[in-house]
Amino acid sequence: MKYLLFISFNNGLKHNAVYENLAILHESIEQLVEEEKLNLKKEKLPSFSELENHFKNEEDFFRPLSNGTWLHIQELSGRNYIRDEMCQEELVLESTTLWDFPTQNYGDKPHGNNKYNGVTPAFIIWNLLQRYTKENDLVIDPMCGSGTTIDVAKELNRKVIGYDINVVRQDVIKNDSRKIPLADSIVDFVFIDSPYSDNIKYSDDKNCIGKISCEKTEFYDELEKVAKEIYRILKPGKVMAWLIGDQWLKKKFTPTGFLLYQRLEKYFEPIDTICVTRHNQTSNTGLWHDRARRYNFYLRGFKYLFIMRKI
Ligand SMILES: C[S@@+](CC[C@H](N)C(=O)[O-])C[C@H]1O[C@@H](n2cnc3c(N)ncnc32)[C@H](O)[C@@H]1O
Repeated sequence: MKYLLFISFNNGLKHNAVYENLAILHESIEQLVEEEKLNLKKEKLPSFSELENHFKNEEDFFRPLSNGTWLHIQELSGRNYIRDEMCQEELVLESTTLWDFPTQNYGDKPHGNNKYNGVTPAFIIWNLLQRYTKENDLVIDPMCGSGTTIDVAKELNRKVIGYDINVVRQDVIKNDSRKIPLADSIVDFVFIDSPYSDNIKYSDDKNCIGKISCEKTEFYDELEKVAKEIYRILKPGKVMAWLIGDQWLKKKFTPTGFLLYQRLEKYFEPIDTICVTRHNQTSNTGLWHDRARRYNFYLRGFKYLFIMRKI
């Protein structure tokens, strides 16, 4: 049996990884907590025998800790288990419009950095590049963050350029994606995982679109400028994929996905819409699930992946 460990630290960092067995996972918890230099009392952490007993009856273990950090361990059984096995051994092309990846990464090399806020699951990019590009095609990610697209594309022998306003590694080019420094109609594929609102702090750069709330029209106006640039640099008939999620904040739902889609359809024709299961959220805790039931709202369960073609 394999186990998925998810720790959300009170300093905003997250750890998300699959372990071969409960003993290795248990060792890692203590080590990770130590590395983050958190002032946690040892007795708050679950003992190995506690975990072992717990998983005799349950598939999920959840433990909030004193200082806002919490642990979540999931037994990877059934569908998740099969998928995890397949992803580790052999990546498979998704065949439906519902994608659910339990971890950010696949294989034994990093693709992007799973400590980067809002990092994209590498499986999404792998699936898209397999379907819509071939070797030596030019792939662009205008908001590439920790560089997941760069790593996946290079591994698949695609040419790739990753831009971001917040540069966290050498091969990312600093650029505001509302003006992409490329000629017209030269790009074979664009992937973009933009901010969904002002819910995540990516950097202090004032031009970060993640500083604008998705409740404001300005948010969609700025993303439309990016969409126009993507349209301009793509070769006719070529494809782009845009990942975005909706917002529910302070009792207000904002259909961010639909509102962005209205802008995108001015330039592109739809190929398909995928729903990608959201993991790694700070609200994925027993407390929030309880609140959602009690106060009659829903936690965000998925993101949209709009796959569209330049007409
Ligand atoms: C959801 S993250 C992308 C994560 C990335 N795909 C990864 O796997 O690490 C959104 C990114 O958009 C970037 N961003 C926000 N406004 C931008 C702008 N005007 N131009 C370029 N990048 C921008 C942020 O810095 C952030 O890295």
